[in-house]
Amino acid sequence: MILVTGATGLSGSAILREFTRQGVPLRALFRNPHRARQFEGFGGVELVEGDMLRPESLTAAFRGVERVLMISSARERMVETQCVFIDAARVAGVPYIVKYSGKESGVGFDPDSFRGTREHVQIERYLEASGLAWTHLRPSQFMQLYLPGALTGVDARRRELRLPIGDSRLAPVDIEDIAKVAVALMRSNGHEGKAYDMTGPEALSMKEAVEQISEATGTAFRYVDVPPEGKVREFEDSGMPGPVIQILNELFAERSRRTESHVRLETHRAFDVEPTRFIDFARRNAKAFLG
Ligand SMILES: NC(=O)c1ccc[n+]([C@@H]2O[C@H](COP(=O)([O-])OP(=O)(O)OC[C@H]3O[C@@H](n4cnc5c(N)ncnc54)[C@H](OP(=O)(O)O)[C@@H]3O)[C@@H](O)[C@H]2O)c1
Repeated sequence: MILVTGATGLSGSAILREFTRQGVPLRALFRNPHRARQFEGFGGVELVEGDMLRPESLTAAFRGVERVLMISSARERMVETQCVFIDAARVAGVPYIVKYSGKESGVGFDPDSFRGTREHVQIERYLEASGLAWTHLRPSQFMQLYLPGALTGVDARRRELRLPIGDSRLAPVDIEDIAKVAVALMRSNGHEGKAYDMTGPEALSMKEAVEQISEATGTAFRYVDVPPEGKVREFEDSGMPGPVIQILNELFAERSRRTESHVRLETHRAFDVEPTRFIDFARRNAKAFLG
């Protein structure tokens, strides 16, 4: 049996849809019954309630499980959540965890300089030392983060992408590509002890990304390189919690320090997944970009 955690989130829900599309049965962990309702009627998905931070709540979830795809949120005590979960899995006799990790694709990127990647590295090390078999799946920035409503997405009303990252280039990846890779990885053997980095097929400046959104929607959008303090004020005015603003600020500082990004498509190729171009992602989501 395959167990997927974080199933109600952005990545997890796409991965669940892909498992269902391929007709592969799985078990999905949820902690909020309201959010799990989106999977009602999904064939082959066994929904089990549990909290990754409370091992005693995970007994039913771990029963008969041979491999876990471990996902949780970067915004919520990620290190504690995943390390407690790894210990609980080991005690329950689960032999293998695939960690849904994260990695920036920049030249000279220092994983210590941004909390998100620093925490993923910490959890990867913990999993590697746990005695369990492991694999790390490390996507770069998600294309879905450019959509309106995402923390760093376009402002659909103003037709603007407002970020303090200058001319830096990023190589975002479509979550639908990651979902295809994740399902292929969970269904096949021989991945233990390996790390799979993946980006999208192009390193784009924000100006170029916005040009592609304009082309896909037939509507002019523009990139506004706002100063960091201006962006913080926008976040504060929107009611965003302080700790989330702090993480984003650190991310922007890291991203504006460098200008290039590596494109890494080996993982797409290894799992025979066609890399989605940003323009095709934007065309698929044209309505959403218009708000
Ligand atoms: N953003 C990026 O560009 C990017 C790039 C690469 C990697 N990543 C990594 O990808 C991972 C997933 O991100 P995402 O944005 O897809 O996730 P997300 O939308 O924030 O969803 C997180 C999921 O984890 C669940 N969860 C959190 N704590 C839990 C707990 N204690 N017990 C049970 N479930 C719990 C949430 O459940 P609820 O529905 O109950 O809240 C939700 O289903 C993160 O680790 C992030 O660092 C992100």
